[in-house]
Amino acid sequence: MKLLEKKAIEVLNKNWKNGFSIPCANLYPFQWFWDSGLIAVGFAHFDMDKAEKEIETLLDAQWENGFIPHIVFRSETDSYFPGADFHRSDLHPQSSKKYKTTGMTQPPVTGFVLKELYKISQNKVKTLSYIETVIDKVYLNHEYFFNNRDPKNEGLVYIYHNWESGTDNSPIWDDVWDTMNPPEYTFERRDTTHVDASQRPSKREYDHYLHIIEIAKKHNYDDKKIAELSPFLIQDPLFNAVLIKSNRSLIELYTLIGNNKDKIKQLHDWQEKSIKSFNNKLFDEEIGTYVHYDLRNEKLLKYVSSSSFSPLFAGIPTKERAMSMVKIMIDKFGGSHQYMCASFDPDSERFNPKKYWRGPVWVNLNWMLYRGLNEYGYSDLSERIKKDTIEIIEKNGFYEYFDSRKEMHKNGKAGYGGNNFSWSAALLIDLIHS
Ligand code: DGY
Repeated sequence: MKLLEKKAIEVLNKNWKNGFSIPCANLYPFQWFWDSGLIAVGFAHFDMDKAEKEIETLLDAQWENGFIPHIVFRSETDSYFPGADFHRSDLHPQSSKKYKTTGMTQPPVTGFVLKELYKISQNKVKTLSYIETVIDKVYLNHEYFFNNRDPKNEGLVYIYHNWESGTDNSPIWDDVWDTMNPPEYTFERRDTTHVDASQRPSKREYDHYLHIIEIAKKHNYDDKKIAELSPFLIQDPLFNAVLIKSNRSLIELYTLIGNNKDKIKQLHDWQEKSIKSFNNKLFDEEIGTYVHYDLRNEKLLKYVSSSSFSPLFAGIPTKERAMSMVKIMIDKFGGSHQYMCASFDPDSERFNPKKYWRGPVWVNLNWMLYRGLNEYGYSDLSERIKKDTIEIIEKNGFYEYFDSRKEMHKNGKAGYGGNNFSWSAALLIDLIHS
């Protein structure tokens, strides 16, 4: 086994807290939805029990309506803001009675993660019987999305907060912030005591983040009210691509399990409708790739980000569209001076290669793009992304995000945000084995 893989295993074992994993020490001290899912993919390669437990504990915090929260507050610590007392999930009548959580969600990776576990497993019979014990909860989660997050019945679900997107401070949201004027809240940030403030969102951005939550809380996190009132209401290509990918995995897994005709039929119906609307609504012909749709202000947000390419991971684009996407990816993000793939358009004046989701390279998006490009037959480009990902980790460590400019990597200081970050380790293990 390579030294780098050994180190990755160490990172994961260290962040394992007896039943679940934290994304990294200090900065993120609880269980996060999409982190947990991606972490499970890494564990599956060397400790399937932990992989299964990770998903099981996440689903244990599911609400009665199928909703899965973005953070499960599993311990009392004040090293994170905003904590459980700010989010107040108890306001929602169907929230978890067992755990304090947030009232927002994150990209629904669980479905495709279960399929990954099955693929990696050396004992498929055992893994499939585990999957049988949890799969209905994931189905219920998808049902929640299509029944509550799709007011126009299009097969596309909305997110009502930038933290739901996973791409927390993407420059795309600047357009939404321009439509808002939240109060100046007084609060004590914790993230900037753990990480250099220049790598994190600004105070004013946090005012916007908190304000949206206040509106949702005022209405006890009622989905209908949120759809009606939230200033942030976005159909996000990454979020919907992940849902579609997970939907497909559920179809495959239920088919393996057998006896679930009705659910399979429903999943197919959702799938068909979602892919159709996705292609009709989120593809921008002028730019040549997918973009975000602002459902509150009824307009496309015409920016290229790594999320623009995530539909490749879910098999959404036609071959022709994939070709156009690949061209943009190479032209904008693939120069020899760059590591792939920056999280935001390097040609934009909003691009910042050090600041969280405003430019740096993220391992989770790279992993999805690697998979997607392979599926579409672009093996040279997918290999480039795999090689770049391994190289930036090798040079800097298991950071949360990395500078996309190669020149910055000379002294091993181009890794930013949290160190010993779980999904960077987990997905590196998966990449090494792929
Ligand atoms: C943070 O605190 O920045 C988290 O990503 C929110 O989910």
